[in-house]
Amino acid sequence: MTSPKPHNTAMTNSKLWGGRFSEATDKLVEEFNASVSFDQRLAAYDIRGSIAHAGMLAAQGIITVDEAEAIQQGLEGILEDVLAGNFEWRVDREDVHMNVEAVLRERIGSVAGKLHTARSRNDQVATDFRLFVFDAALELASSLRELRGVFIAQAEQYLDAEVILPGYTHLQVAQPILLSHWFLAYAEMLERDESRFRDAAERMDECPLGAGALAGTPWPIDRFQTARALGFSRPTRNSLDSVGSRDFALEFLSACSIAMAHLSRLSEELVLYSTFEFGFLTLPDAFTTGSSIMPQKKNPDVSELTRGKAGRVFGDLVALLTVVKGTPLAYNKDLQEDKEPVFDAYDTLRVVLRLHTEMMPRATWNADRMLAAAQRGYSTATDLADLLARSGVPFREAHEVVGTLVGKCVREGRQLWDLTSEELAGAHPNLANVTPDQLTVQASVASRTVYGGTAPSAVRELLGRAKRRLELL
Ligand code: ARG
Repeated sequence: MTSPKPHNTAMTNSKLWGGRFSEATDKLVEEFNASVSFDQRLAAYDIRGSIAHAGMLAAQGIITVDEAEAIQQGLEGILEDVLAGNFEWRVDREDVHMNVEAVLRERIGSVAGKLHTARSRNDQVATDFRLFVFDAALELASSLRELRGVFIAQAEQYLDAEVILPGYTHLQVAQPILLSHWFLAYAEMLERDESRFRDAAERMDECPLGAGALAGTPWPIDRFQTARALGFSRPTRNSLDSVGSRDFALEFLSACSIAMAHLSRLSEELVLYSTFEFGFLTLPDAFTTGSSIMPQKKNPDVSELTRGKAGRVFGDLVALLTVVKGTPLAYNKDLQEDKEPVFDAYDTLRVVLRLHTEMMPRATWNADRMLAAAQRGYSTATDLADLLARSGVPFREAHEVVGTLVGKCVREGRQLWDLTSEELAGAHPNLANVTPDQLTVQASVASRTVYGGTAPSAVRELLGRAKRRLELL
């Protein structure tokens, strides 16, 4: 008979899973393994989850009501300390779950050990993290909504004056548009961004508790009760999926990434339009910075950083996709890497949204500069081609005729509306009656009355609808 291994009591006392081990964890492994430095951010959710779990255990007669109360009171005390910053997080206790449980045991004694009945850290962390991501998704959704309100208000503000700027394709002047139309384009993107978060929240609204380590539990628990107590609509259906899947976090990160992509496009436009050369807008002093060497500088740092941070958030998404892709069912420690990218993307998008909500209403737009730019680039050439095509000339032919006229104007440094009726008629007899006022940027904008077009009437209608959708919820 081999003699039993010496039992290292000091060690088993310090690790909640110490029973089968005869050697203390290597220091470096302990640090490498620990997640408490970042997952302590889940503490409030972890404690809420434990309180609900204990309540359900008592309701099912698995622990006594007294035991549940002792556990719940202990947990509430810990929550207070955590919120007050008085909780000592210990790396040797690895993660948020074991830190809380260890302190609970210090405070209420061995009954604390009953809390982990019919539960595993695997379903516990999946629950904590879902609760966090769910709240984060809804918070970002409402911040996106608030920013959308800012864009809609700006659209309304510039609509009566019919402020015009050049619309671009390939960053070449294309056709004139209303500034209000431009604002509403971003409002559309922000509306979809919001709905992506709400959709994701709806899908993740399921409670994994009760999945146990991976296979469910033999204890007669009531998963529906814990789900309800935690505010989830229902429990998850499959225990393997419950503990092994992180697509809820991936959806969150992809919603963050897409929103950041939109805000990055906006930033690119703000950087460009606030240059001396464009001069379309002036950003508020409080949201720009100077140069330590060049006294004339006013740098659009918020926009540039937003553009840059989009890359960072995309990185968060790719990081988690990459973590998940090689993991066999069900839980693997790789999944501990799910949290930091989510925290990072959330923190980033959150502040970016706040900054834009403050900054956008304080930017001033220079209507004269924008109008002049819209008038410079032959932005009404399509309108002239359309006029010709309306007289029965095939559009392709009309395009060719107008192209020739534009070429002539470019060479002679003139605008389309400078062309005489002889010159117009010379290009095509059907152009003889075109008058200069038909070729202005205002006429161009006013003509685009199609649903979704940039004519003031069309924009006014869509603005009204956008405002109504904003009010609903
Ligand atoms: N800290 C772990 C995580 O974030 C908790 C789950 C650990 N589970 C386990 N079987 N080691 O994923």
